[in-house]
Amino acid sequence: MKTLEVDLGHRAYPIHIGSGLLPLPDLIRPHLEGRNVMVVTNETVGPLYLARQMQALAGYDTATVVLPDGEEHKTLETMGRIITALLTRRFDRQCTLVALGGGVVGDITGFAAACYQRGVNYIQVPTTLLAQVDSSVGGKTAVNHPLGKNMIGAFHQPRCVVADTDTLATLPDREYRAGLAEVIKYGLIRDPEFFLWIEEHLGDLLARDPVAQTQAIERSCRNKAEIVAADERETGPRALLNLGHTFGHAIETGLGYGVWLHGEAVAAGMCLAARLSARLGWLDGTAVERIESLVRRAGLPVRAPAALSAAEMRDLMAVDKKVRGGALRLVLLEDMGKAIVTRGYDAAALDLTLAECRAAR
Ligand code: NAD
Ligand code: GLY
Repeated sequence: MKTLEVDLGHRAYPIHIGSGLLPLPDLIRPHLEGRNVMVVTNETVGPLYLARQMQALAGYDTATVVLPDGEEHKTLETMGRIITALLTRRFDRQCTLVALGGGVVGDITGFAAACYQRGVNYIQVPTTLLAQVDSSVGGKTAVNHPLGKNMIGAFHQPRCVVADTDTLATLPDREYRAGLAEVIKYGLIRDPEFFLWIEEHLGDLLARDPVAQTQAIERSCRNKAEIVAADERETGPRALLNLGHTFGHAIETGLGYGVWLHGEAVAAGMCLAARLSARLGWLDGTAVERIESLVRRAGLPVRAPAALSAAEMRDLMAVDKKVRGGALRLVLLEDMGKAIVTRGYDAAALDLTLAECRAAR
């Protein structure tokens, strides 16, 4: 097992990464305050992993909530089900929530923990590649609104992250590939050596080689932990983690939540950001080809869906948390491994990129 730390002073917490971690009591128990623990999972992950998770909690007063599966259920209404369960069980402020699942379960559970009695503890137990490399770390919690992705949420750090790599064995191929998008993201925004490593080891990653997989998770979490420690509330460099996300969130909202997976939308979004960066003269054509080639090899889209027009994309992109004073800031690439957040792009260049970078119908 490898353990990293998210260094947030007195709120610092460990990220444990390894095989066979789910049933281990010693990883979770030091982070439980009282006796009440509510495990939140969904109808897909529960039957696979709930029993193993419960072994770690033997002797505690536990309850479980099983949510419906899917991004379309990442709503206030679903979050309300967790709150109702907590109240029904009379769980007090010393209770702990455990999020057992992918990013959807993690984001909803984290938000419920942020809201219940003005904030209770929670622990992230991510079971998708995407959640193990990104969403379980850093304390961003949210639900979607029909008009905008992740628009209702809070910063609320978990007490601990337990990433059991064994759970990835049951992850469907499409979901696994979606997780690779966020892995590639770290290489692009700040770690060019990691990008090179991914180019070289993509075959191993796609074959789910355990060594390559663990290395990718560890390096991704190390990158994320460093950024979060430097800028927990996203007043500066944390926004770089949103490379591809403004385009991606527009795709997810525009097509309807769950039609494209989050990682797929981010993959296409990163390629659009690269294309726009090249149009602005910041990135050369070879770099764009390298990025698109890796994304393609990972089985991910490099273009926005044909079903959304450039004008629709532009409209949807205007609902973004990086909008300041009415101006949309974008994460773009100055070089391979060097991202910036900027409003210094030409709107016409963005429109041309959106018009050109759509899949053929
Ligand atoms: P997800 O949670 O929907 O999980 C993907 C699918 O895999 C689901 O059907 C799920 O039930 C299933 N699944 C989960 N673990 C499994 C396993 N071990 N075996 C078999 N099936 C399994 O999607 P995701 O890609 O994990 O997360 C995407 C969500 O994360 C989005 O809502 C996105 O906005 C959010 N996100 C949040 C952050 C953050 O910082 N909070 C960062 C990135 C993404
Ligand atoms: N996934 C973006 C962030 O955590 O900031």
